[in-house]
Order: sequence, then C-alpha cells, then structure tokens
Amino acid sequence: MQIFSGSNSQQLASDLANIYKATLGQIELSEFANHEARIWVKDEKIDKKVVVVQSFAGDPNKAIIEFLLIMDALKRSGAKHITAIIPWMGYCIQDKIFRQGEPLSAKVVTNLIECSKPDKIITVDLHNETIQGFFSLPIVHLSATPVFIDIFKKHNQIECIVAPDRGSLKKTTLIAEALDLPIVFLNKKRDLVTGQVQIVSVDGDITGKKALIMDDFISTGGTLIQTAEYLKSKGAKSITAAITHHLYVEGVEEKLEHSQIDQLLITNTIEPPKPYKHKNIDQEIISIAPLISRHL
Ligand code: R5P
Repeated sequence: MQIFSGSNSQQLASDLANIYKATLGQIELSEFANHEARIWVKDEKIDKKVVVVQSFAGDPNKAIIEFLLIMDALKRSGAKHITAIIPWMGYCIQDKIFRQGEPLSAKVVTNLIECSKPDKIITVDLHNETIQGFFSLPIVHLSATPVFIDIFKKHNQIECIVAPDRGSLKKTTLIAEALDLPIVFLNKKRDLVTGQVQIVSVDGDITGKKALIMDDFISTGGTLIQTAEYLKSKGAKSITAAITHHLYVEGVEEKLEHSQIDQLLITNTIEPPKPYKHKNIDQEIISIAPLISRHL
C-alpha cells in the first residue's frame, strides 16, 4: 500500500508508513506563477489501494485544493480504493449557521471531500460529532481522548479534571471516571454581541490541586490561557492542558509561553510551520499515528 500526503501532513504520513510498513508515495507539490496549486504524482506505478493524508490546516484553503487534486491524480493513475485521512478537518468549527446569510461551511467542505470520491474517510476529534452525519460515505471518527488517558494513567500526577463548559461534560466525565479523579466545573458567560467568553465561577475545590484541562483545539489560545489564569487565581497548583489539535495560529506559541500553563500535551494531527521550543512550558507532542494505523 502506498501512502501519499499533501504539504500539511508529511511527517504523519511518514510515521504511518513506518508503522504500516507501507511505501511513501512521491508527490511534487508546487505552484504555478498565478498561485494555482500544481500536483505531480511521481510514482510510475500506483497501487490499487492507497492512502492520502492531509490535514486542512496551515493555509486550510490551499490544503483542501491540494487534497482534491491529489485524489484526482491518484484516481486517474489507477488507484481503485482510497482511504482519505484528514486528521484535522478544517472548517469543522463552522458547523452551524449563527446568522441568516452565513454558509454552512462544514457541510460545503464535506461535499468537496465527497466529490473527490474516497472509499473511506478517517478523521480525528471533529469539533462537533454530528458533522459525521454530513457525510454519506463511510467515516471513522477517532478520538485522541483514550491516547491522553493512557498517558495520564502511566504518569498520573493530575488531581482533578476541569470541565471547561457544560457541553464538555460527557467527555470530561469519561476521563474523570477512567482516571478516578474529581471534576470541577467552570461557569462561563458569553457576550452575545462580541462573542467574548468570561469565566464567572468554579464549582469544586481547586486549591492546591494539579488540574487537567482537555479541549479539542487551540486556535487563538484565548480559551486555554484565560482558563489557566482563572484556575491559578483560584489557587490551582499546576495546569496541564491536553489538546488534540494545535492550529499553530501565528503568535500563539508566544502567548502560550507567557501563560499560566505548566504542561501542554498536543497531538501531531497538524504539522507545525516551524519548530518552537517552549522555555516555560513542558510541551510534548504525541503521535496520533498508532491510533490511526489501527483503522487503516
Ligand atoms: C470551543 O468550543 C473550542 O473547543 C475551543 O475551546 C476554543 O474554541 C479554542 O479557540 P481559541 O484557542 O481561539 O480560544
């Protein structure tokens, strides 16, 4: 089996190829002078069964086009069964129409993926589980939560789990039960005009405790940084954050560096544009490749 990747998921594709003892396909990715994406699959022989890995991240629009063109090139070169691994499905945050006149962007992107006719889709921690229902093709929706739970079971220094909002209750309860730890709840209020979120209180004792915050993604870092600051101001001893997708928005690493976060665990669903070495945060990148490889 050959594994191909676009510009965002080259390391993950290589990890998967190692685990699966598969061949890494050769694709030349470049641009025409007018900035249109140019794709060239260089392998002379294309296996019947291939895998394409591409997170819709970095520049999500470019990543989507690359993905669609790679899919087309592989089909035209003889691939008969394509598994599309989209570890981060960009636009999945836009899963609702908040105001009349807005598109349902997550559905539009789902339609684009389906137009490229993959035989199977694998993705990780969609912002909203119900997005699976936007697809009519077979989809495997994986969660990084068991991966994080295994890590904390081995090095369990956490003393409580923070439920960042009521919507996260199901997931937080699962983790709390698996690690046999208490949950503390944050109460937030959102300004309906500006969309700004403010933490107003915490239910549960956080004083002197090592707290764990889990979330699906970091974009601006605002949610995580504000939550960590609030918990420390209420007496938390340390803050560990376990986040599936880091979108690597420009300037966010620097903001995290100066935050109250002590430890940050993220997965490699998205490739960082450049390595960033944190001095104040103990940061670990967890490979999602073993989890994905079990579903190939
Ligand atoms: C909220 O629903 C999400 O799960 C994240 O907590 C949040 O949106 C992350 O965004 P940011 O890093 O910009 O605060």
